[in-house]
Amino acid sequence: MLALAVVPVLLILGGCGAAKKEAVPAAKPAATTAATTSNPQGSLESLKGKKVLVAYFSYSGNTRKLAETVHNKVGGDLFEITTVKPYPAKYDDCVEYAKKEKADKGRPELKSKVANLQQYDVIFLGFPVWWYTLPMPVYTFLESNDLAGKTIVTFMTHGGGGEYNCFKDVANAAPKAKTLTGLCLPGGSVNNAGGDVDTWLKGLKF
Ligand SMILES: Cc1cc2nc3c(=O)[nH]c(=O)nc-3n(C[C@H](O)[C@H](O)[C@H](O)COP(=O)(O)O)c2cc1C
Repeated sequence: MLALAVVPVLLILGGCGAAKKEAVPAAKPAATTAATTSNPQGSLESLKGKKVLVAYFSYSGNTRKLAETVHNKVGGDLFEITTVKPYPAKYDDCVEYAKKEKADKGRPELKSKVANLQQYDVIFLGFPVWWYTLPMPVYTFLESNDLAGKTIVTFMTHGGGGEYNCFKDVANAAPKAKTLTGLCLPGGSVNNAGGDVDTWLKGLKF
């Protein structure tokens, strides 16, 4: 059973004047599965003839699980975005680290690049919401690849706050790509997300 215990974590948000406090639910790590690389046979009619990449970043496993579900349905290649410098293993330390990294507009170096990204027509891009936006490594990914003419379809997991402006943030970070309607699910729901993923995928016009 891979159920997640979602526990509230209080993140203190700096700002002008009095410190603002906001509860941001957090998740305990899900069981992780090693990333596979390719599943040429996707089942989606609308993707026939398109070369598909599923790229994702995940800290505690929720988005990885969702990425695997998406990958099973759309086929193509699966790529995990990882950083040269790992994030702190302790959850609260990671939360603080990521807060500073965002404030500093950090673009952490990625461990590996997608081989021949030019071959892909459609990129499904998955990540957890971090501090109301994309984790900084996902910005590194978007900004360090030539995404002109690609179709990007975002999926994300969150701890209770929803998508904020993350779909827009992706579009702004990849202005030369076409973006389609994304999927946003609570991290605790990823083990039973097959139905939501199917409904979402059926509605996409590539
Ligand atoms: C650094 C950090 C920042 C987070 N910020 C938010 C947030 O702003 N809003 C939210 O709803 N959840 C937030 N969360 C919770 C994650 O988005 C959520 O647990 C997600 O499902 C984790 O995905 P993962 O297991 O793939 O890393 C944050 C978690 C971390 C570690």
